[in-house]
Amino acid sequence: KHALNIVKMKKMKREGEPLTMITAYDYPSAKLAEEAGIDVLLVGDSLGNVMLGYDTTIPVTTEDIVYHTRAVARAAQHTFIVADLPFMTYHGSIDETLRTVRRIMQEGHAHAVKMEGGAEIAPTVEAIVRAGVPVLGHIGLTPQSVNQIGGYRIQGKDEADARRLLEDAKELERAGVFGIVLELVTEEVAGAITAEISVPTIGIGAGRKVDGQVLVFHDVLKYASDYREKRFVKTYADIGSQIRTGISDYVSEVKSKAFPEEKHVFAAEDGVLDNLYG
Ligand code: KIV
Ligand code: NA
Repeated sequence: KHALNIVKMKKMKREGEPLTMITAYDYPSAKLAEEAGIDVLLVGDSLGNVMLGYDTTIPVTTEDIVYHTRAVARAAQHTFIVADLPFMTYHGSIDETLRTVRRIMQEGHAHAVKMEGGAEIAPTVEAIVRAGVPVLGHIGLTPQSVNQIGGYRIQGKDEADARRLLEDAKELERAGVFGIVLELVTEEVAGAITAEISVPTIGIGAGRKVDGQVLVFHDVLKYASDYREKRFVKTYADIGSQIRTGISDYVSEVKSKAFPEEKHVFAAEDGVLDNLYG
């Protein structure tokens, strides 16, 4: 199976075939998502929240993105991989921005980068695209600007906001993005943007009138100790409680000496193992 590419993604939009995207941050999650048939993997800076325990995506560094993207790329060799550009790494000089993009592509092995922002970042998007790197836009609620926005607010609620979002989407398309993530945007405005641009829109909390959906891996699977319900998420498994139960069973069995059993034990005639971990 060959990885999807940005030409095929545009064709999917024209043909009305929804794009599926999920975040992935490590080897097993990326491998499992690929096996499950996902179209696109996103090494999102949401890894700051769900993998590293930060409150926001702001502390996430280029180092973090490269490290996690490498693990994802080792696992998913037949899936299109997008990696987030971290907070404030694309607002200085173009040279500095391109150096960061180079690292994420060459050391992380991503196929594309994603950046938050509208018309104001269009010249930067253009420079990255001109360097041969596909760029995914991201407008609506942009978590890297949470301190400026003042919380995780639904976007596109009034006429002026809706018009600004549509203008941003068109500017990004002109700058050469291959798609745009719409986060926490009203269904009506997301639908209007989707109808106005030729590249796919990928929604998260943006309703049904978009070209694809993206969710965070840990949300889809309830992979957390204290999973908090979100209106825009549907959960498809409850991995968190399965992990807790599995580990607590292991703890009990070691304490009670039920594990290891006879079959887990080596004797002198045993030799080499096929594998050690995983
Ligand atoms: O970091 C992330 O997971 C994202 C998605 C929510 C779109 O940017
Ligand atoms: Na992100």
